[in-house]
Amino acid sequence: MRGIILSGGSGTRLRPLTKITSKQLLPIYHRPMIYYPLNTLIKAGIKEILIIVAPERAGDYLNLLGSGREFGVKFTYEIQDHPEGIAQAFLIGENFIDNEDVALILGDNIFADDFIEEIQSFKGGAKIFAKQVPDPERFGVVKFDEKLKAEKIVEKPQAYLSDYAVTGLYIYDRRVVEAAKSISPSGRKELEITDVNNWYLAKGELDVAIVKGEWLDAGTFDSLLRAQNLAKEKLADKMVI
Ligand code: G1P
Repeated sequence: MRGIILSGGSGTRLRPLTKITSKQLLPIYHRPMIYYPLNTLIKAGIKEILIIVAPERAGDYLNLLGSGREFGVKFTYEIQDHPEGIAQAFLIGENFIDNEDVALILGDNIFADDFIEEIQSFKGGAKIFAKQVPDPERFGVVKFDEKLKAEKIVEKPQAYLSDYAVTGLYIYDRRVVEAAKSISPSGRKELEITDVNNWYLAKGELDVAIVKGEWLDAGTFDSLLRAQNLAKEKLADKMVI
């Protein structure tokens, strides 16, 4: 299994904090934000990790994270020239993926749970993770049927669909590159990860698990503050990096 961290974007919602640095480099208690999703991948045993960054900040990431040797892994870097969607990671990362399974995590997503079992036991298709939230309209949202099977996924639904947000950790088999090539940009001109998930859903190969522990997308002032406290209360002493 290979790993990809997508850490692009310009963090406009966090200005002026992100005026001179990348959102995913902001401090979360004792570590830069990106250490948390990196920790999730490294803890699960992933050794080859592609870090996709925005061009203006590439040097900062290289200075901060280096080769990965310090953490016992190997980092590769790629540039996302424009923030054109999460699914673009699979086009940028096609050579890196090299026909292997891949776990993608977003550089601003912080999970209290470990995913060691889920990542190590992955057997093909797609596996994503949902969490009940009070503000589902901010996210990709999944609707389940009575048997708790995913029925439908909609990106930032305007009308209420369910409380289950799709979190920023996704596991796919090698066909994810083909899926990403088959979709078109959405209304917000992005290649949506939701469309990739729906590609697998249409084939009956999308598995959605529920996240038990706390999960944050640290992209707003309030979630950033909560992330700091969560890190101090529960995460700091369990990190491997
Ligand atoms: C993105 C995805 C969305 C997902 C969220 C998780 O949202 O498009 O489906 O629920 O990440 O953090 P965005 O960061 O583009 O608002």
